[in-house]
Amino acid sequence: MNQPHRNRRLRTCPALRTLARETRLTTDCLIAPLFVVEGTNVRREISSLPGVFNLSVDKATEEARLLFDLGIPAVLLFGVPEHRDATGTSSASPQAPVQRAIAAIRAAAPDMAVITDVCLCEYTDHGHCGILRGDATIDNDATIEVLARAAVSHADAGAHMVAPSDMMDLRVAAIRRALDAAGHTELPIMSYAAKYASCFYGPFRDAAQSAPAFGDRLSHQMDPANAREALREILTDIDEGADAIIIKPALPALDIIRTVRDQTLLPIAGYNVSGEYAMVKAAAARGWIDGERAMIETLTAIRRAGADLIITYFAREYASLRQR
Ligand code: PBG
Repeated sequence: MNQPHRNRRLRTCPALRTLARETRLTTDCLIAPLFVVEGTNVRREISSLPGVFNLSVDKATEEARLLFDLGIPAVLLFGVPEHRDATGTSSASPQAPVQRAIAAIRAAAPDMAVITDVCLCEYTDHGHCGILRGDATIDNDATIEVLARAAVSHADAGAHMVAPSDMMDLRVAAIRRALDAAGHTELPIMSYAAKYASCFYGPFRDAAQSAPAFGDRLSHQMDPANAREALREILTDIDEGADAIIIKPALPALDIIRTVRDQTLLPIAGYNVSGEYAMVKAAAARGWIDGERAMIETLTAIRRAGADLIITYFAREYASLRQR
């Protein structure tokens, strides 16, 4: 008769543990976010994101090349423009930091994928993700037109993929239509399909200077209490033409990543957001946790939950560790 099984047998030595490992983490599933600012020769560390910098186009290009040489296949660009207005006009300017960085990175690292974040919060003077009506509510349908123009300008500049993060309704469809009309029928959209209204974006808003001047993002980002709604958001975006989807923030939503993995055949990215990174860095700096092991455990857990890709500020550190 069967003996109760001895589960420890496959854990007795490093080689057996390696063979028994179910989730493999590699640099080629990582996407590195970069924050592109105006100017030249700017490399300014973000105080709440140690090891992450505001970079001018020249420095962002150097960083991208270095990341590519370390085995990271893609960057996700965020713009931090100086010119901001009520309707986020500069988001579609060919002279804005992101548009210029796309071309420079493509020239310096031709085989690297350049993905761009599409949202208005970094481009509006009020820091909201859309165009506001007189009563300060967001005008969804006016906003998606501006987002579509921004996406087309990224595509015109040479982006490989656009990633709308605004959470307006129907924006994937609007962006798809605009890209197709501009001749970018083969350019994929990776939508932030399920994006929660999370406190873990705090350090990002320092990096992008994109905190709302008043109010919050609760009218478009999702309530962290909701799981069925996340699935509805994702299925809607897929219906509208998304080619890949992002779930964000990753760690508080591992259950969503798993559920979605079982519901779609599309690639899924988990966004290991700024606050998740900052917590590890802060605790490691105090000697409260082992930062390197926390990084590996974090990234592995996101993959184990079912994400194919991970957008993470750890990209460079993880890739450097793998090269040692
Ligand atoms: C919006 C955007 C945000 C993040 C990615 N895209 C900020 C927000 O929604 O307030 C957050 C990413 C992070 O925290 O690392 N453009």
